[in-house]
Amino acid sequence: MHVCPWWLAYFFDNGFRRLIDPVDEALDKWVKPGMTVLDFGCGMGHYSIGAARLVGKAGKVIAVDLQDKMLEIMMRRAEKAGVADIIIPHKCSAHEIGYAGVVDFVVSSFVLHETPDFAVALQEIYSVLGEGGGFYLTEPRMHVKADFFTKEMTTAAKLGFNVEVLDPAMLAYKAYMTK
Ligand SMILES: C[S@@+](CC[C@H](N)C(=O)[O-])C[C@H]1O[C@@H](n2cnc3c(N)ncnc32)[C@H](O)[C@@H]1O
Repeated sequence: MHVCPWWLAYFFDNGFRRLIDPVDEALDKWVKPGMTVLDFGCGMGHYSIGAARLVGKAGKVIAVDLQDKMLEIMMRRAEKAGVADIIIPHKCSAHEIGYAGVVDFVVSSFVLHETPDFAVALQEIYSVLGEGGGFYLTEPRMHVKADFFTKEMTTAAKLGFNVEVLDPAMLAYKAYMTK
C-alpha cells in the first residue's frame, strides 16, 4: 500500500484535528499515568503527544514510524508541547517494529491500511503488547472500504485479540482490542 508522504500529514495533523479528535477523550478510559504506550505509525505525533500527557512523567510513549522525517517533526512538536522527555522515537521497518520491550497499550491511527501486510503488522503489535493490554485502532473511511476494515478485524481476532468494533466517527472506523 501507499505510505503517506510526510508533507501530507500537515493536512490532517493540525489544530483542527485536535479539536475534532481530542486524544484525551479517545484514550483516557484506558491510558493511565505511569503506563507505557506504543504509537504505531505515529506520523507527526497527534496520538503520541496526547498519550504522553495522559501517562505523565512516570510513563513513556514509544513513537514508532518508518519515516525519519515524521519522527523528527513529531519530536519537534513534542518539545513545543513540553512532553519530549516522555516520548522515545523509534524507527521501524515496513515489516517489523523491532522494539524489544513489552508495552501496556498500543494506539494506531490511520496506519494499518498503509502497511505491506496488515496481518504481519497486527502480529507485530500483538507481540509487543503485554497480557491484558489494550489496543485502540482507527482507519480512515476516506481510503479504507468497509469490507477491508472487516477483514482487518477478522484477522485480529484470529491472531488472538478480543475485538470490539466501536461506533465509527465521520472520518474514521474505530476498534478497541485487548490481548
Ligand atoms: C496517514 S499517517 C497517520 C499518522 C498518525 N498516526 C496520525 O494519526 O496522524 C500514516 C503513518 O504510518 C506510517 N507507516 C506506514 N506504514 C508503516 C509501517 N509499515 N510501519 C510503521 N509505520 C508505518 C507512515 O510513515 C505515516 O507516518
